[in-house]
Amino acid sequence: MHSKKYFIGNWKMNGLKKDLIHLLTVEKFLKKNIKYKAANYIFCIPYTILGFGIFNKKLKIIKLGSQDISKKSSDFGAFTGEVSAKMIKDLNCNYTIIGHSESRAAGDSDRDINLKIKHALDMDFKIIYCVGESIGRFKKKQSLSYVKKQIDLNLKNNLSKTSSKNIILAYEPIWSIGSGLVPDNHYLNNFFFEIKKHLKKKFKADLPILYGGSVSQKNISILKNLKLCNGFLVGGASLKSNNFIDIIKKYYS
Ligand code: PGA
Repeated sequence: MHSKKYFIGNWKMNGLKKDLIHLLTVEKFLKKNIKYKAANYIFCIPYTILGFGIFNKKLKIIKLGSQDISKKSSDFGAFTGEVSAKMIKDLNCNYTIIGHSESRAAGDSDRDINLKIKHALDMDFKIIYCVGESIGRFKKKQSLSYVKKQIDLNLKNNLSKTSSKNIILAYEPIWSIGSGLVPDNHYLNNFFFEIKKHLKKKFKADLPILYGGSVSQKNISILKNLKLCNGFLVGGASLKSNNFIDIIKKYYS
């Protein structure tokens, strides 16, 4: 059971130093109302501003995460352009996204994702592991089998009793990301039920499962009724504080 909900922002390739003001505004809002403190708030922001955010003493409730880590090594090495788990951890950053469909589309193979998960676990990160099917697979009714395969492929070497405490699963249908299209609650409830069953049967694991894909202030009042959903991974609507605050307000209204 995971009673604490997650609201995770994914800024993708967006955000300059000045945009950290949005995080400070959300933080101020959260501080004002005790009921909002019952959830985890994490923003995965670009490497370039991660340190600025983490060392800003005003950010206390909000935690920050990276959007990826290097597959090359968890430590150091001659890998131009790479940023390792150890380097991110050095910022006191404890969260990272791994396996986002945009990273997969940019070249991350299952082997790469396996390595990234291993490195992140070695450095004691909490991983937001993303899974989700294409529109083609959705239309062919292969969503569930495909996502189960993604889970098995990438978690089989990495999921143990201890590590399962450090993995958050985010189901993001690729066709839903940035499109405004969101599966209905009946579909998602059933989907989450099957995934939870699979995790339990195959890995004896009980991971929190988030939904991601076009979550916004417009649909959160519907999505909040998802019984088996432990929270949300929010892209576009996490960039501006007013939209993100609206999501939280409506979720708790
Ligand atoms: P979106 O992105 O909310 O803009 O659809 C979600 C994500 O890709 O994590």
